[in-house]
Amino acid sequence: VTDIRKLYAQTGMFTYDPGFTSTASCESTLTYIDGDEGVLLHRGYPIGQLAEQSSFMEVAYLLLNHELPSAAELDKFTYTISRHTMLHEQLAQFYRGFRRDAHPMAIMCGVVGALSAFYHDSTDIADPHQRMIASHRLIAKMPTIAAMAYKYSVGQPFLYPDNSLSYTGNFLRMTFGVPAEPYEVNPVVERALDRIFILHADHEQNASTSTVRLAGSSGANPFACIAAGIACLWGPAHGGANEAALNMLREIGTPDRIPEYIARAKDKNDPFRLMGFGHRVYKNYDPRATVMQKTVREVFDSLGVSDPVFETALQLEEIALKDEYFAEKKLFPNVDFYSGVILSAIGFPTTMFTALFALARTVGWVAQWNEMISDPEQKIGRPRQLYTGPTQRDYVPVGER
Ligand code: ACO
Repeated sequence: VTDIRKLYAQTGMFTYDPGFTSTASCESTLTYIDGDEGVLLHRGYPIGQLAEQSSFMEVAYLLLNHELPSAAELDKFTYTISRHTMLHEQLAQFYRGFRRDAHPMAIMCGVVGALSAFYHDSTDIADPHQRMIASHRLIAKMPTIAAMAYKYSVGQPFLYPDNSLSYTGNFLRMTFGVPAEPYEVNPVVERALDRIFILHADHEQNASTSTVRLAGSSGANPFACIAAGIACLWGPAHGGANEAALNMLREIGTPDRIPEYIARAKDKNDPFRLMGFGHRVYKNYDPRATVMQKTVREVFDSLGVSDPVFETALQLEEIALKDEYFAEKKLFPNVDFYSGVILSAIGFPTTMFTALFALARTVGWVAQWNEMISDPEQKIGRPRQLYTGPTQRDYVPVGER
């Protein structure tokens, strides 16, 4: 306490805010969230409109360049991204150093960090042009990196990018195609995945974005910063929640077992939580979950599949929303609650879910990183702490302890 008083006297201000629940770390013009009303805007545009009417490439352009592109600007941007999709051939060797059963996120942390060893020419962060090249490289290479992580895990040969396809179509082909066999992109699946990418593109100062900004604030190179973001995203309380949510829904299995799991989630002696429920900022329905739920139906109809897990999810949501505990704590489904159901129907194994999140969030990470570096007020991020350890004491030689 004395220490805080001293600090307060020196600086006039000291806040203790574990988890930064009420501390803004920066100014930003990228994304606005009103958690009480369930509103999410990117540069002013509602997420629902972007998900319904735009494409992931348009949203990427918007986040990086402040405004929606004209048709010519979008063509040029899409072309530029397609020119950067290849990985250096030596990076393929890098994959072979991993065990076959390595988690794709483990591979992605390593490979994205290693990009800094290959692209020295885009690591001068003081130069806006080089920053943009690094950003384009990262957005373009993430699908290739993620698809190669998948191919490696199933023991199939890597597929090179086909730049005649869309960003998302190319990713689907690199993931599910096999050499010497034609791969036809299903337009409904392509659209659904593109929409999932839009829904995950940015979400202001979440844990992984804050990590990217914090790493970047020291002047670290962009590839190292994004690798730090990937590491943070991996946790089950963040990007790992979609994998955890689907695993939970499969474990519940049938709707008759839902009450048992609801009871567990409410029991303070049980660490179990309903995965895909609750959010630090949304104290209302996550607007991304609304789009996600609708997309599940479209994908199921197009692929002619049905999965009992979707029925379990719908009923779980209905029961939880009527429950006093969830109402009082304002716990609603978040973006991760339904995304696993769609990704699984498309054919992705659960271990790839967070990798797909990382792919999409790269757009937000690079846009936020650029915004931070361009900010004249930018300083190295350096939170303070509330020290609760021993007061000063004298060293005792080891023989006298
Ligand atoms: N199931 C049951 N209870 C919950 C849940 C849940 N999913 N989420 C929060 N609670 C309860 C907590 O036990 C706590 O209760 P208490 O006040 O009695 O102690 C209260 O609600 C507040 O929870 P906190 O953990 O303090 O809230 P916080 O804002 O720190 O956490 C988080 C948000 C991490 C998302 C949390 O809701 C959670 O763990 N959800 C499950 C994981 C998940 O879905 N994560 C994805 C988030 S979205 C994303 O990253 C894209």
